[in-house]
Amino acid sequence: MSQLNKFKRYTITSALPYANGPLHIGHLAGAYLPADIFVRYLRLKKQDVVYICGSDEHGAAITIKAKKENTTPQAIIDKYHAQIRDSFAEFGISFDIYHRTSSPIHHDLSQEFFLNLYEKDEFIEKYSEQYYDEDFHQFLADRYITGTCPNCSNPNAYGDQCENCGTSLNPTDLINPISTLSGKTPVLKPTKHWYLPLDKYQPWLEKWIDEKEGEWKVNVFGQCKSWLKSGLQPRSMTRDLDWGIDVPLEEAKGKKLYVWMDAPIGYISATKQWAIDNNKDWKLYWKKQAKEEDNSCLIHFIGKDNIVFHCIIFPAILQAHGEYILPQNVPANEFLNLEGDKLSTSRNHAVWLHEYLEEFPGKQDELRYVLTSILPETSDSEFTWKDYQARVNNELVAILGNFVNRVMILMHKFFDGKLESEQERIALDEPFIQSELDRLHQELEQNIETYRFRQSLQNLMDIARLGNKYLTEKEPWKTIKTDPEDARKTLHNCLVLIGHLAASMQPFLPSTAIKTLQMLNWEGGKIGFDQAITFKSGHQLNAPALLFEKVEDDTINAQIEKLAAKKQASAPALQLPPAKENINYEAFAGMDIRIGTIIEAEKVAKTKKLLKLKIDTGLDQRTVVSGIAEHYEPEAIIGRKVSILVNLEPREIKGILSQGMILMAEDAQGKLSFVSPVDDLHNGSVVR
Ligand code: MF3
Ligand code: ZN
Repeated sequence: MSQLNKFKRYTITSALPYANGPLHIGHLAGAYLPADIFVRYLRLKKQDVVYICGSDEHGAAITIKAKKENTTPQAIIDKYHAQIRDSFAEFGISFDIYHRTSSPIHHDLSQEFFLNLYEKDEFIEKYSEQYYDEDFHQFLADRYITGTCPNCSNPNAYGDQCENCGTSLNPTDLINPISTLSGKTPVLKPTKHWYLPLDKYQPWLEKWIDEKEGEWKVNVFGQCKSWLKSGLQPRSMTRDLDWGIDVPLEEAKGKKLYVWMDAPIGYISATKQWAIDNNKDWKLYWKKQAKEEDNSCLIHFIGKDNIVFHCIIFPAILQAHGEYILPQNVPANEFLNLEGDKLSTSRNHAVWLHEYLEEFPGKQDELRYVLTSILPETSDSEFTWKDYQARVNNELVAILGNFVNRVMILMHKFFDGKLESEQERIALDEPFIQSELDRLHQELEQNIETYRFRQSLQNLMDIARLGNKYLTEKEPWKTIKTDPEDARKTLHNCLVLIGHLAASMQPFLPSTAIKTLQMLNWEGGKIGFDQAITFKSGHQLNAPALLFEKVEDDTINAQIEKLAAKKQASAPALQLPPAKENINYEAFAGMDIRIGTIIEAEKVAKTKKLLKLKIDTGLDQRTVVSGIAEHYEPEAIIGRKVSILVNLEPREIKGILSQGMILMAEDAQGKLSFVSPVDDLHNGSVVR
């Protein structure tokens, strides 16, 4: 049973994207497409809902980009705000407002929030040592410091977060910190800031989060629990920056609000702006009402890197303020990968929405479909162009498009596209089809309501499959000659099914739903979700038009090549590990490296990576186990000259005593190569 009516109204948000670059498919699949499906569904179910988003225009992400492009933060946000807003609109992401955090209404509300907490003495004021760039005479925002992640050793971790392992960091956690301004090691200097004592809220947060067990997605709940388990620390809500919202205190001149304090408040300020524009009361959507059952249901759609901010820090801020509702759910998605690799803006490994729109004009629903099919709802998932092609061709074209097209063509061929019947109105009169349809439709609703959008899309496709099966079994192209009334009835039933399909398509494939309704010549071009589908007798259909086109191999191959070319252009330098610490000469001279020849090679049983090699080192013949089986076939390397460290302590590996180590070179793409002498040297030659 639908749970929707438990709430008076809905406040739905999608994470505010940083206005520092274009959007790619990972954005769409993370926080926007699922939310849009959900919101379109709520509207079809006649719920009172507001869907909020906007550009996040503060924080170091913006200033760093401005610096890189040699321009001002204002120019950056103006450019990308417009581009992002337009991409969303093109893909039919149906925000009620797409606002921006640079607006005065947002600055005012953020300062009001800060002062509210300040006056209640909610902040701890603390001096702390912070990294300062002596060449640039400024304190460094977290994002201006890079270094090695203490958790996973990623050499390019930022001061606030390691994007490789997802750990949230403080700048002082980084090993070998470097200022991105001067490229030098920054120094620590004292500065005063205002901290939100998250530790103080820990017991309250624990209780609140524990109530969500079973209701929130396991990935979200689990991340919250692990944050709580490691113990919350006070977090500074102010920063030494020159771009952002001024801290509204005399003694804090020159300081700005922490971007993660102001950005989520952007949801509220955007709602305020929407309310002004539409003559609504924003407080109904955000403030606690006199009776709890009158509260709005707040749901944040985000990507997994935003979980802590939406499930811990922002709720703590809202709770400290006291007048605001807390999120009912935070259905965060995991990450989407692309062609076997992480999506990456810096490496330009992405399918950019503005490029897709140019190269695939009018094909927004195709991308919506494919991305919905593979949403990273419970674990990371992957987009590949081959899969895009297969899903469009084998599902959209062959199942959904085909059903609608066959019925339309037959209706025009046999009946000039006109519905005639003795009955006044035509409804589905096949009990089996009707009950299947009801079941699928109910499942579809249930799945949307529980954030299982992939599954709900399958329910939609199953309705089309049901139609195809029915049509194939009834063979109206045959019965038209033997029993024309049966053929007519069959096609009428199919048209009713198409009406239901069009209704169910609306949350997922909004343009296709409209096209379908146009073909049906459906009055008003909109169709209710729980509406009975009936046609008046004598109803005239419009001409058939294809809903989807096949994607050709050439189109896909061009995209695959484009990605490979981009990758080549930007990859190598970026993935090199940094230089290691210096060692003294003795440490080097202690290694006895020789030239040897591989004389035997075989796979080590029950392992994927290991080869057992016999090497002639000139000194002796010895066994070495080497992790190169995924790169070399044993028979291909016999006779190969290699470099071998011969005085490495022997080690037992998989029951084999390995006496030494073969030197291998590895490039940025993970390709391995033997380190072999260029000239022909005898075994036992010394490498030094
Ligand atoms: N701009 C942030 C990001 O892209 C998301 C901000 S969400 C908000 O990761 F809640 F702060 F608005
Ligand atoms: Zn890491």
